[in-house]
Amino acid sequence: MLDLLKTIHFLSFAVAIGAGVSNLVLGARLSTFPPQAMPSLGGFRLLLGKLSTIGLILLWLSGIWMVAVTAGIGILDNQTFLWKLAAVAVLTVLSIVANLAVAKAKKTGIPPDANRMKRLGIGSQAMAILALILAIVAFN
Ligand code: HEM
Repeated sequence: MLDLLKTIHFLSFAVAIGAGVSNLVLGARLSTFPPQAMPSLGGFRLLLGKLSTIGLILLWLSGIWMVAVTAGIGILDNQTFLWKLAAVAVLTVLSIVANLAVAKAKKTGIPPDANRMKRLGIGSQAMAILALILAIVAFN
């Protein structure tokens, strides 16, 4: 069971981090695309955002389940794991803020502020990579 959960965990952060980095790179190269490509690029970036969110949800679900089938409450003695969880909590808040901005943009038809979305994207990637590093330190 742990192997299956860990497989889901690893695939989830691969997709979440991969989609996040792709979104940042695409954002940095937007000016190189012709104006008529913007609507489909916008749709593609929304899809990347959804993949990141689904990955994060699966990380929480597989992570909590792994805690349940391994150390249980005893995992709270693992200080580095608690720092990992803090990084994931910050990432989750940034993801909620970004998703709320996208939902508002869909409702109003006014695109979200590009610089704010870029900062949310960079912050999220930084927290995801920090969580990954802390996870390796915590469990080895
Ligand atoms: C961005 C979010 C996350 C990333 C990048 C991440 C990354 C990782 C990595 C790389 C490992 C393997 C460490 C190793 O064995 O070398 C791992 C293991 C683990 N993660 Fe996460 N994780 C995330 C979120 C979570 C969350 C939210 C939880 C729990 C609530 C969690 C619980 C665990 C547990 C319990 C293990 C150890 C499994 C074992 O016993 O081998 N993770 N995580």
